[in-house]
Parts: sequence; structure tokens; C-alpha cells
Amino acid sequence: MEEIIDRFGRTFKTLRVSLTQVCNLGCVYCVDESDKLADVPALASIPPNRPALTTAQFADTIRVLHEVLDLETIRLTGGEPTLYRELVPLVEAIRQMGIPAIKMTTNGSLLAQKITDLWKAGLTSLNISLDAVDPVVYNKISRRKNLHKILDGIDKAIALGISVKINCVVMKGVNDTQILPLLQFAKERNIRIRFLEVMQMGHLYENFEQHFFSERQIIETISQAYSFIELPREESATAKYFLMKDGYRFGVISNESDPFCNDCNRLRLDSYGNVYGCLSNNTAINISDQLHNPQEVTRRLQEALTQKKLKFSGSKLSMLAIGG
Ligand code: GTP
Ligand code: 5AD
Repeated sequence: MEEIIDRFGRTFKTLRVSLTQVCNLGCVYCVDESDKLADVPALASIPPNRPALTTAQFADTIRVLHEVLDLETIRLTGGEPTLYRELVPLVEAIRQMGIPAIKMTTNGSLLAQKITDLWKAGLTSLNISLDAVDPVVYNKISRRKNLHKILDGIDKAIALGISVKINCVVMKGVNDTQILPLLQFAKERNIRIRFLEVMQMGHLYENFEQHFFSERQIIETISQAYSFIELPREESATAKYFLMKDGYRFGVISNESDPFCNDCNRLRLDSYGNVYGCLSNNTAINISDQLHNPQEVTRRLQEALTQKKLKFSGSKLSMLAIGG
């Protein structure tokens, strides 16, 4: 079978699966104030009446992708993946395929209820979005009064021994005052936190600069309280990590000022059976209808690889649609 690798040596080793485009929060970077919270921006080139994949179809599609790509990691995303009803059976099915790491990125609001079953089913790690520890700021960003539930979910996951990281999208004038309190929160629990530069996506496509808080500003803020050194970035990693004197590590994901595109190894699968080779290219390439034809799957994956860019150039879709 032909190799799936581009001239920069990039291939697909991490599969990000968006299980649903629905989310139960209304975070200001994802959803515009004028949107109804339930509104979801439609993915380009998907016929409006196309049904979403069933759990069996998700599992079959993931199995074939793993056979072709020998995946190292699968990351379940959304929308909000914990809203997907058959999440536990799907995680069990994925575990049986032998993909070494089964991870999930979640807003954490349903975690306290679901984490024990997910852990038993084989989930190996969690990235939890938490943009503030001050309830007033948290409510303003998420437009929900859920903070206590998320904190509860984080503590339950830690108690189970599951690997947990926090993602905080930093927005100027909205939650930049939360950087140090969040860092302290994560440090106390000895879990990693990554501060994310806001990306030029969705309704922020035209005016994201107004909220942009750069890696440099994040580092300046943290250096007011701590000293640390930068570590070499691991291959294909979104985050750079910084080491404090006491051994604690935190990360920054410089989505805009220093993106990791040149060794990106991600492939996205949406809930309609389409793949995308890049976050900023939203042209859908259907895979789930071609599972009986491995040669065609390979050809389509090669096509998806040509979507990869060398610099993230934004997307008019919110993360909700394309799978964060
Ligand atoms: P780890 O394996 O824990 O490092 O996960 P991750 O950082 O890949 O996944 P996560 O879902 O936590 O994503 C964190 C952030 O990384 C996202 O919000 C994006 O900002 C960025 N990111 C993830 N995938 C891509 C991608 O394909 N392209 C770009 N440009 N950024 C991405
Ligand atoms: N810029 C940066 N990060 C974003 N996320 C969602 N939208 C954006 C954006 N416009 C984050 C979520 C989650 C991760 C997958 O992406 O908070 O942590």
C-alpha cells in the first residue's frame, strides 16, 4: 500500500474525532452573542440532510483508519463529547482496536457523572477546558453557572488516577487576570495547565486581534510571580512547556504566534464520516462511505494530507463545528 506521508515528512498519527457539534456551554470564543446557544455553524460541503454516523459506523470508520494509519492516539472531541449518548460503548470498542492512547477534550461539565465509567471503558487521559477559577469570570465566558461541576469533575478524574491537563484560552480583557489563579489551581493539584492563544476562528475570524493575548504576554504575566525555563518542544506537540524551579511544568499553545504546523500529525473525523487534514481547511472528504475499498480510503487520506498548511490561516467555522 502507498505510504501516506507528505514532502515535509508529515503523516497522520493522531485522530481527532468530533462526536457531535452540540455543546452545553456558550463560550464567547466559540459562540457569538447574537447566536442562539443551540445554533451550530454548518460544516462546509455537507448536505443538510446527511445523517450523523451511528456508533457502529464511528467504530468501523475508526477501525479502518487505524488499519491504514497505525494510529498512536485518538482524541474524542466535539462540540462536547460527553453529550454523545453512546460514549462509553464507543470507548470500549476503540480500546479493543488497540490504539495505544484514548484521550478526550471536554468542557468538564458532565465529567463528575461520567468519568468512572469512561475510565473503566479505557479512557487514558483528559484535557479539560477551564478558562477561569473565579465564578464571575467563568460565568461571563461560558454563559453558564457550571464552575462547581467542572471543579468537581476535575477532582474526581484526578482521584481515579487518570492523566488530566487543563486548557485555558486567554482573551485580553476577559480572563487574562485569571492566568496566575489558574496556574496556582493546577500547581496545587500537580496537573499541567496550558494557556492557549485564541485562534482566528468562527465569529472571531474578522476581529480576533481585539482579544488576542500573545504567548509573550502570557509568559510576561507568569514571570511576575515565578521563574522558569523553556523546554524543547516535543515533536508534533501543540504546546511548549516551561519548567519551574520546583519541577512543575506549565505549557503555552502559541496557536497564532508560533504554530506547530510543520510537524502536525493530526487528522480530523467529523460526525458525518468526513475527514479533514487541517483545522483551517474545511473541505470535507468522505471516508465512511468507502470503508469497503481500502485503496480509495488511502487515496482520500492522501488527499486530506494535501490540505495541511505550513501556517494556520484561520477558519470561519468555530471549533464547535470542526472539532477542537
Ligand atoms: P495533547 O495531546 O494533550 O497535547 O492534546 P492537544 O493539545 O493536541 O489537544 P487539545 O484538544 O487539548 O487541543 C488544544 C489546542 O491545540 C486546541 O485548542 C487548538 O488550539 C490546538 N490544536 C489542536 N489541534 C490543532 C490543529 O490541528 N491545528 C492547529 N493549528 N491547532 C490545533
Ligand atoms: N481559539 C483557541 N482555542 C479554542 N478553543 C475553542 N475555540 C478556540 C479558539 N477560537 C479551545 C477549547 C478547547 C480546545 C480544544 O480548543 O477551549 O480547550
